[in-house]
Formats: sequence, C-alpha cells, structure tokens
Amino acid sequence: MIKNQLDDIEIVKPPINVLHIEDVPGDAKLIQLRLSEANQKCNIKIVDHLQLAIDLLKKHKFHVILLDLGLPDSQGLDTFNRLQESEKDTPIIILSGLADEERAIKSVSLGAQDYLAKSLIDTQLLIRTINHAIERHKLLSKIKEMEYEKFQTEIKNQFMTKATHELRTPLVSIKGYIDFILSGKLGSFHEKQRSSLAAVKRNTDRLIMLVNDILDIKRLETETNHLNYQLFDLKKTLDLCIEDMQPFLDDKNQNIETKITSDSLLIKGDETRISQTIINLLANAIKFSPENSKITICIHDLEDTIKFEVIDHGIGINEKNLKKVFDPFVEIKKPSYYSGSGLGLNICKHIIEAHGGSILAQSAGEGKGTTINFTLPKKRVVFSEI
Ligand SMILES: Nc1ncnc2c1ncn2[C@@H]1O[C@H](COP(=O)(O)OP(=O)(O)OP(=O)(O)O)[C@@H](O)[C@H]1O
Ligand SMILES: [Mg+2]
Repeated sequence: MIKNQLDDIEIVKPPINVLHIEDVPGDAKLIQLRLSEANQKCNIKIVDHLQLAIDLLKKHKFHVILLDLGLPDSQGLDTFNRLQESEKDTPIIILSGLADEERAIKSVSLGAQDYLAKSLIDTQLLIRTINHAIERHKLLSKIKEMEYEKFQTEIKNQFMTKATHELRTPLVSIKGYIDFILSGKLGSFHEKQRSSLAAVKRNTDRLIMLVNDILDIKRLETETNHLNYQLFDLKKTLDLCIEDMQPFLDDKNQNIETKITSDSLLIKGDETRISQTIINLLANAIKFSPENSKITICIHDLEDTIKFEVIDHGIGINEKNLKKVFDPFVEIKKPSYYSGSGLGLNICKHIIEAHGGSILAQSAGEGKGTTINFTLPKKRVVFSEI
C-alpha cells in the first residue's frame, strides 16, 4: 500500500528550473556553464541577495535551489534557516566554499537536501546531485504527508473508540431500567404509556447495537490476533444460522433453499465470526427482499477455495454502489423502512479478510436481486495447522 503510494511520485521532466542564489559573479557563471553542458536541459535564474530570492520564490516555482551561504544580506546558517522558513516546498542544495564546509554539513542536518564543495563541482556530479535532491525531497514530503494522515486517522479512531465506550455504559443502564418498568414490577400503566416506553426500548436497543457494531469494527481493525481458530462443520454452522433467522423468514413468508456440494465441510476458522458473517448476509437478504420470495444459499467446494453465496431476489444494488456497500456507514438511498446503521457488511469484510478470504457483491441492477459471496482460501481454512 505504502509502496504503491510512493510509486505514484512523478520523476521530474526536463527542463529543470534552477534558482541559484550567489553573489560572486564568477561562481555564478561557472555553475551556469556546468549546467549548460548537461544532457538534461536546465533553466537557471541567478539572484545575488537572499531577500530577492525569497521574494522571487513567492511568485515563481523552481524544482531546486542552489544556495551560497555567504550573501551580502545574510551569512552562514542564518541564510539557510531564513530560506527554509520561507520556502518549504523546494529542495535546497548548499554550494559551499572551503571556509564554510562545516556549516554546509550542519545545513544538511537541518533539512538541506545535500551540499557540494564549489571547488569540486563538475557537470555530472552537479546534475546527479540535483536529480537526487529533487527525488529525495518529493519522497520525504510524501512520507510526511502519509505520516500526518496516519496520525489523523489514529486520533479519529481513538476518539471514536473512547466515545462509543463512554456511550455504552449509560445506554445499558437505560435499557435495564426500561425493561424493569415494562416488566410491571413498579406498577401498572395504561396502553399509551406502554407503547411509548416500547418505542424508547426499541430505539435504545438500536443505539446499543450501533455502539456494539462500532466497537466490534474497532476490535477487528486493531487486534491482529483476534480470531479464535477451531475446526467446525460449515454446513452445520449454516443450519444453526438459518434456525436463528427462522422467525424473520417466517415474518415475511420467505423460504431458504440450500445447495451444498458436499455432505459435510470441515473447516478451520473462527466459528463465531463466520456465523456472524452468515447472519449479517442472511439478515440483509431477508430485509432487502419482498415477502414470499426465495433466498438461495450455495456452498461450493472448489479447487482452491470454499465459496459461500447468498442469492436473493430483492431490491438489488446499482453498479456504482456495488463496491461501496462494504464501506462503514454506507448510505445508499433506500426506503426508510429498511433501518440499519450500514455496518453489517463492513464487519463481514473484516472477518472474511482476517481469514485470508475476500467478499464480493454482485447485482444485475436495482430491482434485480443481489448475490453476495465470500471465498475462503483452502490453504488457510482446510490445509493449514490451527
Ligand atoms: N442483499 C442486499 N440487497 C440489496 N441491498 C443490499 C443488500 N445487502 C446490502 N445492501 C445494501 O448495502 C448497504 C450496507 O449493508 P450493511 O449490511 O452494511 O448495512 P445495513 O443492513 O443497512 O445496516 P446493518 O447491517 O448495520 O444493520 C445496505 O444499507 C443496503 O443499501
Ligand atoms: Mg445489514
């Protein structure tokens, strides 16, 4: 992932625009001559005062700056510090005289890309140093950007986990009191009071479910060793999941057909997590399909993988949303009676990927049903040691 991001960095195409800050005309001329001999075309702009360079950099972009530390309006490390403070986006190479080599080395430790002793410069060395400086600077900027993004995501995650933890305790307590009141142990109440309390209970349950789902995702994301591997029969697990979902199937008069290629399918994995995935997929198929419809579940024992498929004849998913459905809190326009927080499939994706597998949504379009399948690699769930 990081490698891919770094691969995106473009290599600079000639001409290379060079700003040379130098007050000694002979030294400036020499660099100009060296660059004119290079086989990579360079445009060079020379200024003899630091302030002129700072003003110019506000208006023009350069690929690289060549800097002499001793200038009429600034001397030594101060020259480098002032330039770097006003211009962070351009790599700086120090061109040092014999007397200020030590300061040039110090500048590199403060952020200059490189330094060259003026007396040793030849064309090849100069052009190679310029190219390296540009590449290194880009690479470092990209790494800094990525680190910053990582830091921000971490802060967001920590906040989310802390906030959801803090929410959970009072919610569970509210639920306890509502259940207690609804049990009638505090006295009886009339029907309107009961139905209002029942609405409070329903919404509290939804909130608790949401908080639990968020905490679950955080756990799946952060704990690498969260799977509790055991040997189990996927076919039996599926039967138990169907049994759990039977009341919801009956509610909509939907029926399930199973197509399984072998009698038993012993696999190694986290049975609770795989059950959770199957239940999430079944719950979606039930929720997003009409009454009296059929849901088909197939398990294919293929050469390298076990493929698990849930096929429904419901509202379908249009093409541009097929990938999005696995993102957390995904919002696909749908009638309000399909309630849910949009975390179920994200949880499934985490679980299946933790088993080394992948999950995919397919649909011929809106109104044309949906197939969600996940595959588990046999070398992990069948042939591996637990
Ligand atoms: N079988 C399906 N048919 C049509 N759309 C689906 C199906 N499964 C998922 N989707 C779409 O993908 C979205 C994300 O699904 P997901 O299971 O993550 O969330 P949810 O069911 O809305 O809420 P939750 O599972 O958290 O209760 C759904 O809101 C729905 O728009
Ligand atoms: Mg769902």
